[in-house]
Amino acid sequence: MEPKTVNTLSEVIILPEVTSTNDILWQRFSQGQLGPAACIAETQTAGRGRRGDVWQSPAVGNLYLSLFWPHCAEQARHGLSIAVGISLINTLKQSGINQLALKWPNDVLHKRQKLAGILVESRFNTRQYTVVGIGLNFKLPEATQTLIQQPSTSLEQLCDPVPCRNWLAGKILQNMIETIELFEHRGLTDFLPLWPQYDALHEQAITLIDGAQKSTAIACGINDQGELRYLQNNEIKLLSNSHISIRFT
Ligand code: BTN
Repeated sequence: MEPKTVNTLSEVIILPEVTSTNDILWQRFSQGQLGPAACIAETQTAGRGRRGDVWQSPAVGNLYLSLFWPHCAEQARHGLSIAVGISLINTLKQSGINQLALKWPNDVLHKRQKLAGILVESRFNTRQYTVVGIGLNFKLPEATQTLIQQPSTSLEQLCDPVPCRNWLAGKILQNMIETIELFEHRGLTDFLPLWPQYDALHEQAITLIDGAQKSTAIACGINDQGELRYLQNNEIKLLSNSHISIRFT
């Protein structure tokens, strides 16, 4: 079946300060019918990442962007973050930013330093609704860098000239919408063959961190649900998009 093309958003909400751009879209959703919509903010006072992490969101010209999508199916849970990550990397490549990879399931890295993060949230209310949030560092002031737990980078450090934020936001949204439409119809079918070239963990030694417990493994790609395959104790195991975090060993 040909993917249905939705080229327009019902709303693009642009605000100076929000708690979280994801929150704004969930609030708008709870107030009534909402078609595909986006929210972009200059700063977030409670930006969040996966596993309840804080997403530092200073007003320094970074991109904090969310997309509400009213049709996404249950399968979205694991695979969507992968599909959107590939789409985001492709959009950044079109701006001349290379050597990017996706660290399963949601970190866009440049040489193991985090440039962007993706947060997929879903709610069920007779059907599945999804908000996909993207945080992309344009600038990383020292004060912010010290608050972030992992090695990070920004477009300012990677390219000169830095692409125009509004232009890039438009491209990211446009490509993300096309990607979600494709994903809705075909799941990860079209993304799986591409995965090895995007996979930051490709056959790497990794450490799985579950609270105080740590174990090592070898990453072995993903399955068609977007779950991480890893080799541990001579057995291939699967990891869902859960509370477990992954580090390079
Ligand atoms: C992660 O790396 O864990 C995901 C980070 C996602 C951050 C973005 S910024 C826009 C949107 N609003 C949020 O509160 N989070 C996402």
